Amino acid sequence: MKERRNAVALAPSLLSADLADLGSAMEAAESAGADAFHVDVMDGHFVPNITFGPSWLEAIRRRTHLPLDIHLMIEAPIRYLDTYAHAGGDTLVFHAEATNDPNEVVRAARKLGAGVGIAIRPETPLDRVEPFLAMVDELIVMSVNPGFSGQKFIPDSPAKVRAARAAIDRERLDVELSVDGGITPETARWSVAAGASFLVCGNSVFSHGAISANLEALRAAVEEGRRDRSEIR
Ligand code: DX5
Ligand code: ZN
Repeated sequence: MKERRNAVALAPSLLSADLADLGSAMEAAESAGADAFHVDVMDGHFVPNITFGPSWLEAIRRRTHLPLDIHLMIEAPIRYLDTYAHAGGDTLVFHAEATNDPNEVVRAARKLGAGVGIAIRPETPLDRVEPFLAMVDELIVMSVNPGFSGQKFIPDSPAKVRAARAAIDRERLDVELSVDGGITPETARWSVAAGASFLVCGNSVFSHGAISANLEALRAAVEEGRRDRSEIR
C-alpha cells in the first residue's frame, strides 16, 4: 500500500461536491488535507442512480495527484475495468453482489496494473468476501444502501467493521478497511474505533459550511476514534 501522511485516510466523495465547480471543491479539499478522492460510478442498474462516466474521471485525474478510489456500483464490472483504469483510477472497487466470479474481476484488474477493492452492501454478510480478502487492496463496508449520498449511517455497521478488522488482522493482510456512507464526526469516531482505516465522506465535507472546517472536524473525530480503539484493545 502507498505511504501516506495519516494513519486513517479521509477520502472526500466527489458526488456530494458542487459538480459545476468541481475543480475548486477538489482544490479546497486537497489543501485541507484530504488523503484521496472517492468517485462513485453508478450505472442505473446495480443502483437506481447514474453518475460519473469515464470522461469525468479523466477530468478529475487532471486536477489532482491524490489517489483516486473508484467505487464501481455497476453490474458486470469486468466490462469497465479497462476504461476506468485508463481514465485514471488508482483503485478499482467492485461490488461482491455484482459478479458471480470475484476471482476473475480481481485478476483482470491486476492485469491492468490497478489496485483492486471489493465492496459489500449493508445486507451482505462479511463471510461472502472473506475468501477474497487476501487478494485485494481494499474492502469497502457500506454503511448506507448504495445509490445516493446524504443518507443516514446504518447503526449496526461498526459491528461489521469490527469483524472485518479481526479477519484482516488474523491473516496479517495489508487491506485498507473503508467505511462508506453517512460518515459524520460522530460516525467517523465509531468507525475508527471499530478498526476502519479509510473513511469516505460526502455530505459531511461538501454539503454545508467550509470544506476545511469540515475536514478538520472529521480529523479530530478520527483521533478520538483512534484513542477509543487503543483503549478497547
Ligand atoms: C453511496 C456512495 C457514497 C456516498 C457517500 O452510494 O457510495 O460514496 O457518496 O456520501 P455521504 O457521505 O453523504 O453518505
Ligand atoms: Zn462510494
